[in-house]
Amino acid sequence: MCGIVAYIGPRDAAPILLDGLRRLEYRGYDSAGIAVLQGGKIAVRRKAGKLANLVRAVQAHPVHGEVGIGHTRWATHGEPSDRNAHPHASSSGEIVVVHNGIVENFLELREELADEGVTFASDTDTEVIAQLIELYAGGGTPLFEAVRRAVGRLRGAHGIVVISAREPDRIVAARLGNAGGVTIGAGEGEMFVASDMPALLDHTRRMAFLESGQIALVTRTGYSVETLDGKPVESALQTVDWDATAAEKGNYPHFMLKEIHEQVRSLGDTMAGRVDFEQGEVFLPTLKIDSAAARRIRRVILTACGTASHAAMVGRILIERLARIPAEVDIASEFRYRDPILDDRTAVIAISQSGETADTLAAMEEAKRKGALLWSIVNVVGSQAMRMADGYLSMQTGPEIGVASTKAFTAPLVDLFLLGILLGRLRGTLPAAERRKRVAELRRLPGLVGECLAREASLAGPAAALKDVTHCLYLGRGSNMPIAYEGALKLKEISYIHAEAYPAGEMKHGPIALVDKSMPVIALAPRDPWYEKMLSQIEQTKARGGMVIAVCTDGDDRIPAKVDYAIPIPDVSWTLSPVLTIIPLQLLAYQVAVLRGCDVDQPRNLAKSVTVE
Ligand code: AGP
Repeated sequence: MCGIVAYIGPRDAAPILLDGLRRLEYRGYDSAGIAVLQGGKIAVRRKAGKLANLVRAVQAHPVHGEVGIGHTRWATHGEPSDRNAHPHASSSGEIVVVHNGIVENFLELREELADEGVTFASDTDTEVIAQLIELYAGGGTPLFEAVRRAVGRLRGAHGIVVISAREPDRIVAARLGNAGGVTIGAGEGEMFVASDMPALLDHTRRMAFLESGQIALVTRTGYSVETLDGKPVESALQTVDWDATAAEKGNYPHFMLKEIHEQVRSLGDTMAGRVDFEQGEVFLPTLKIDSAAARRIRRVILTACGTASHAAMVGRILIERLARIPAEVDIASEFRYRDPILDDRTAVIAISQSGETADTLAAMEEAKRKGALLWSIVNVVGSQAMRMADGYLSMQTGPEIGVASTKAFTAPLVDLFLLGILLGRLRGTLPAAERRKRVAELRRLPGLVGECLAREASLAGPAAALKDVTHCLYLGRGSNMPIAYEGALKLKEISYIHAEAYPAGEMKHGPIALVDKSMPVIALAPRDPWYEKMLSQIEQTKARGGMVIAVCTDGDDRIPAKVDYAIPIPDVSWTLSPVLTIIPLQLLAYQVAVLRGCDVDQPRNLAKSVTVE
């Protein structure tokens, strides 16, 4: 949720911190702040609202120093305001903390500290951490030990970074549970710490990642890591291959539009090196699966949240059809608490672009604890979801900055298709001829996505028609039923229009009562095995006066004759059509949000990585 960045080295810290926060603002954006060691003291600048407010405050009252920490906040305890913005200082002002997570025993600790005579300057749980460290740092205890002891008192999941005016040559960082990453970046004679890689890409690609229960001491020249109970840890630097320009908007007005357009490339990258199109072969070595292991699997459970759960819904259909393994989808926040029945013949597949969604990680922990085979599909290499799994697939999309996920939705669809093909071959359930045919079609996919994107201008009519509505329905069947859910989520999260999705066959069981002239229906009706059913659903809607916008297949003349707006896409088989049908729905949501003057990349109340429960 919150973004964290820290610097220690020979350069002026403030511009580096502000630039890092700019790259992390998508993680949380209701307030921001920095703290810099300046002349033996710590100078703090904090402002409610977007980062631009903080930048203005720093311009008005500059801070200079070579060690500092910064934070962009997604509020949990305490309203977004200057006083609740991070960093938070202890009463002496000499120990300053930035934090990602929720201190679950915050009230208990606050009372304990109040009994010691501590008074508080904010409503946040984070200030409790700063005050606890101050308490434990009394009597000359080194900062590192005081942080270790304070972190040991916290319940919940946390990423914490601390500096102290008493020990100006170091930064201490700790991670407890799955409240998002703590990444250490190594430069030449300078070091960085951040919650997320984009903040560091301009400076270094050499990074190390803290695991839960680890604490790091970072100086100008290096770092060391220990467990919270004092055992040294070998935490090696890894080289990440994301490039810094991928986290820039370029000529696009919004990250979301850029990322929608990047899907031609990201899908190509997702297939690169993994597919032999001639032989119809798929190679996924990072899954670490062979024929014997594939044949042992009796059941697949796909678990995820939000957009990733919609990818999981498509994955279930693909895995059942291509590999003939019973598959289910479980929303991660429910799965973790349901005491699910799992064994070593169950494969659990967690999907998460960030790889740090708290609910998804908790679901993975549950699966691991119960002995299931655990795979993840992630975008962030090095993320917790990647490291925790027995095997993983990476999305290969590069950083996704827009809070509304787009390219990190279509890439896992391709990953899941490849997984279905592979499992089908390893288990002998997918005839070779069908496998070759399906894999051959995959080759055309990036180009077909490009064709959908080239028709962007044709969405102006439907976007204008939706601009002022308050509700709408998205309907789909079969492999496009999940696309109805994803299309509705895109519209609601960035335009704030109430959008509901239903499997179209469910309409007659209740929701059709909602349909009248004021209820637009967005129907997914490509030429697929469910086409005739969708056609009759559209007829039923039109008969009740509803406006219909339909995604259909090029050359279809029946749907355009019935609906208010037809959005044709290129012809493709039903197994791959979700990758195409979602493109106009992403663009439609984007255009509607722009017409309504919404903040597309940073919609209200949301954050990119949901690292709290
Ligand atoms: C997508 O548009 C959403 N903002 C959100 O639903 C997201 O997909 C969800 O929080 C899961 O995130 P993850 O893929 O990083 O786990």
